[in-house]
Amino acid sequence: MTMSMHAARSNSTWKNAVVYQIYPWTFSEDSARDPQLGHGSIKGIEERLPYIESLGANAIWLSPFYPSPMVDGGYDISDFRNVHPALGTLEDFDSLVKSAHERHIRLMVDFIPNHSSDKHEWFEKSRRREDGYDDWYIWHPGHKDEYGNNHPPNNWASVFSIPHRKAREHGEMSWLRDDEWTPPISAWKWDDVREEFYMHSFAVEQPDLNWSNPYVREAMKDAMRFWLDRGVDGFRVDAVNHIGKNMELLDEEVNTAYNEAWYENPYDQLLKHQSCNYPQTLHEYVWEMCQVLKDEAYEERDLRMILEAYMGESDLRDIDAIAPEVASTFNFGGLLASWDANSRKIQMDYYYERLLRDAVANQVNGNHDKSRLVARLGDNGARVAAVLNLFLPGMRFIYNGEELGLDDADVPPWRLQDPNGLRDPERTPMPWDETQPNVGFSRADPGDLWLPTNSADAYKSVMRQKQHEKSSLSLYKAAIRLCHELPAAMTGGYVPLRTDSDQVLAYGREDDETGDKLVVLVNFTRNKQASVKVLDSHFVIGGVILSSANVEQANRRVDLRAGVTLDSDEAIVIKKI
Ligand code: NOJ
Repeated sequence: MTMSMHAARSNSTWKNAVVYQIYPWTFSEDSARDPQLGHGSIKGIEERLPYIESLGANAIWLSPFYPSPMVDGGYDISDFRNVHPALGTLEDFDSLVKSAHERHIRLMVDFIPNHSSDKHEWFEKSRRREDGYDDWYIWHPGHKDEYGNNHPPNNWASVFSIPHRKAREHGEMSWLRDDEWTPPISAWKWDDVREEFYMHSFAVEQPDLNWSNPYVREAMKDAMRFWLDRGVDGFRVDAVNHIGKNMELLDEEVNTAYNEAWYENPYDQLLKHQSCNYPQTLHEYVWEMCQVLKDEAYEERDLRMILEAYMGESDLRDIDAIAPEVASTFNFGGLLASWDANSRKIQMDYYYERLLRDAVANQVNGNHDKSRLVARLGDNGARVAAVLNLFLPGMRFIYNGEELGLDDADVPPWRLQDPNGLRDPERTPMPWDETQPNVGFSRADPGDLWLPTNSADAYKSVMRQKQHEKSSLSLYKAAIRLCHELPAAMTGGYVPLRTDSDQVLAYGREDDETGDKLVVLVNFTRNKQASVKVLDSHFVIGGVILSSANVEQANRRVDLRAGVTLDSDEAIVIKKI
């Protein structure tokens, strides 16, 4: 008998959520806006709700839409309680929440606890030491050398250190010897107004808030309540591991495993135990944030947070244990694992085995920080990855355009928005209809678009894919429909399975109550059919109900013990007959 791991451990309705991530600047500009501004709007999102509903998504994660100087795609916020005027108004936001709820689509908003923009009034006040705002950010006088120069208090580095690497590639930093590492960018910036250094984990324009100050914590929790009271259903919490710092400001240790050929970012020259990931404070602050959601005032609501943290697996599991009924960390393991049957199996088995009671699992194939799925795995590989993830238990995240199989765009250097010059290729406008100006995204002059459209992907527009049964969009719709219909996919536990091929991955889903059972088989081979036996299957005879290659299947009958044939780069879903 096989053991069903992670049998429906949570009652939260989020465990069946298909969450559609919207990057508001390039999603859709509302048709009525006159003149058109060339970037998305809140009303534009509301107009597209029927599309999101038709996809089968039942939740939205809305990336930052707050007032912002837009140094980091909106992750530099100058007011935590408002809407960027270029995107709309609070009334537009309220209307979006209402319309989404009418369609049974929940809304979680990006929440950025670690930093604000340097244009936030809190920072302006703090640098002037006004009104008790002295300690709202992390300030330090640094150390003066014998010549009177100021040096940062420690070796902490900015995550955004890639510009240094680029500068070196362009012939700057010629003082470095060939065998010397490119230094990361310091996390400390001298401020001429206050005449002290402030800390910034990301861009210089994103000073870190001082979470050791209880007033800061209260202000941030108030910001959460502000959005909860407007009806949002939860938060995607940005870079949460950065709020936990050792305020003794001890130096980070050097990462002796660092090597310039393997690591892209000079930031990784340091281990991160002090400037972030510091468990003593991190766990306490995450716990406090969770308490906001658990407040009596919200008792009737099924609220949830998903926490972004790049940390080791066991550190993640510690955070997951804080309040599994309301918060879990993003599961980036699958996305980061190498693309082969064995690596994915190890990652999945480990992940579901360690999932706590009351926890909601999650699966991610991409987001606005990652090269597009097709760019990583090719067209067929992306379809395989979609089926693989969508049938796993928990919240499944889809980054807008992923369902269309969009590729990374070639963004000319003069149009780049990302301060790292890295992440614009996956953020270009959604192609709604290639017969319309700017693929139906906006009627503005193409030169005025926030980011240019990806002309190479215009033929992948929603309009066109809707009409093709085998399109990527049709595959996503078919898979999600099945996930919402089949008891095994809705509530079933994860069943780890083995096959007789090291190229073919298998897992099962099993609903104890109805006896409904599924097996998902994934052939990772790029150029070879595979015939595979499932060694320990929890059923023998089934019908193929979905294929990543052909979408709909006429219930082809298969015997899992005798062997099932899969095409190269194909994932299939088999239902017990
Ligand atoms: C993670 C976000 O996903 C990314 O886009 C952003 O640049 C950093 N956090 C800083 O907020």
